[in-house]
Amino acid sequence: MSEPLVLVQTHGRVAVLTLNRPKALNALSNEVVAELAQAIRGFEADPNISVIVLTGNEKAFAAGADIGAMSQWNFSDVYNADYLGGDWQYLRDVRKPLIAAVAGYALGGGCELAMLCDMIIAAENARFGQPEIKLGIIPGYGGTQRLPRAIGKAKAMDLVLTARMISAQEADQMGLVSRVVPTEQLMEKTMEVAQTIASMSLPSVMMAKESINRAYESGLSEGLMFERRNFHALFSTEDQKEGMAAFVEKRQPDFKHK
Ligand code: HXC
Repeated sequence: MSEPLVLVQTHGRVAVLTLNRPKALNALSNEVVAELAQAIRGFEADPNISVIVLTGNEKAFAAGADIGAMSQWNFSDVYNADYLGGDWQYLRDVRKPLIAAVAGYALGGGCELAMLCDMIIAAENARFGQPEIKLGIIPGYGGTQRLPRAIGKAKAMDLVLTARMISAQEADQMGLVSRVVPTEQLMEKTMEVAQTIASMSLPSVMMAKESINRAYESGLSEGLMFERRNFHALFSTEDQKEGMAAFVEKRQPDFKHK
């Protein structure tokens, strides 16, 4: 049997998915994305999992979509198959928090995959970029949309039009990543963040994610109303009772994730 393209592990309430196509710098073929989506679907449905971490290896998170495969395609191939719909599209609909732990190259679709995650923890050796322009195409998986929202138009134009790669430090200064950590500590530091989030009440974590994402897709009044309704709804959960009782009783909460 051939090696899985995505390795799957769980640590308590955290699932870790490792892209496993090292010889091609984790190039994102449709097969890789199908395995990724299948694993995530399973963890979305699993009440024992709260947080999903995506990672690669020290050389590459992912160096983009598979150029070898794409080089054979014409318009009707990509249009008829709705390339970047389907499993690719599913990844943006995931409701549990996704954390990208990025070392090495995160280029093209790799950078876009990291950006669709809710947090990016970057190793000091991480390099981000959207080099599609050098291939005669443009980013197709959110790069022209998420980059300007994350780092502003001026920086997004610079990256997309020149194909320039940026370091983890520069990505941090631009606001593209949540934290930068020493390369050899990437997984340890990411797991600390993931375990912290996983210790919170899952409904409040999911509603916080949903509410922050709504900020991208609505005006302020609608976003504030969406947030307020989610805030109201959380008063129906067992965990709100537990969280507040624990504070009053000066103890740690024991959330049931309900
Ligand atoms: C297929 C890839 C690949 C890719 C690397 N490889 N990137 N294969 N698709 N995106 C393969 C190489 O062909 C090579 O295979 C092996 O991985 C190692 O790569 P090298 O180039 O030899 O490594 P290095 O010299 O260290 O250079 C690293 C690199 C370079 C700078 C990251 O590989 C590179 O520029 N890759 C392409 C990056 C890119 O353009 N990404 C955007 C793709 S378009 P062999 O068999 O020769 O050893 C895209 C569209 C997005 O992502 C649309 C939505 C997803």
